[in-house]
Amino acid sequence: MKKRDFLTMDDLSIDDINDILDDSFLFSNLHKGWQLPHSRLIANLFFESSTRTHYSFISAETQMGAKVVDFQPSTSSVNKGETLYDTVKTFEAIGMDCVVIRHEEDRYYEQLENINIPIINAGDGSGNHPSQSLLDLYTIKEHFGKFEGLNLLIVGDISHSRVAHSNITTFERLGGNVKLSGPEFLVDRKDLYVDLDEGVAWADIVMMLRIQFERHKDKFDFKADEYLEKFGLTKQREKMMKENAIIMHPAPVNRDVEIDSDLVECERSKIFKQMENGVYVRKAIIKKVFGEEF
Ligand code: CP
Repeated sequence: MKKRDFLTMDDLSIDDINDILDDSFLFSNLHKGWQLPHSRLIANLFFESSTRTHYSFISAETQMGAKVVDFQPSTSSVNKGETLYDTVKTFEAIGMDCVVIRHEEDRYYEQLENINIPIINAGDGSGNHPSQSLLDLYTIKEHFGKFEGLNLLIVGDISHSRVAHSNITTFERLGGNVKLSGPEFLVDRKDLYVDLDEGVAWADIVMMLRIQFERHKDKFDFKADEYLEKFGLTKQREKMMKENAIIMHPAPVNRDVEIDSDLVECERSKIFKQMENGVYVRKAIIKKVFGEEF
């Protein structure tokens, strides 16, 4: 049987997406205590910094009764020059049933085709972040009950954002509309560009992104207050949003840079709700990867 990887949103059909969202809903209430029916050993290999994705995978795995191995690149043989492939092949050889990987290289998983255990992609460079995309979709559906006809505005460093790249095509596939705003040189889909004030008034969902300085080759000079005024969600812009519109952000948030700090936990903000929902969605992904039924 072909192993089930979870690598990009484009690999998932609309039915797959809806199945995961339905299972996530069940994990949020009816099946809170559901345990994996077979003993499973899962290794988390985070080669890049993470708080939410790393620890919500650990939370999901632990709550489901998996045994969890947490790999630390800084004390591993990566320091002796071991390749990503040999590292992952080692985890396969020593008995892991699945690996969850975050890596700074776009599409790192293409070099892992000969790995025989399932790979869950927890973020590849500026490429894909499918578990984030699914938790975003879950949060949107929880609020609006649908995707069809909704307007999603994504604002900020689009070109370096795996969150934006995963969400743009998926949201359009689900019948929603997407526009992008932010510093023009950081928006790689010019066809979707919109003036920020216009976009904020148009959107049902305003998704703010941080500037990913760690991925910029050239120095990007800016002052926080100037960025907020020009490209951020200020209190003034929040007042221009539709009555039922929501604010999202994958986090980490740079308070008072891309969003006014007072808006991070305002009534229409779903930022911490997204993190809570991330655990339900990651449980549903693990269940799907192992082909289990409730
Ligand atoms: N949203 C997200 O991926 O956050 P982390 O980098 O903290 O995992």
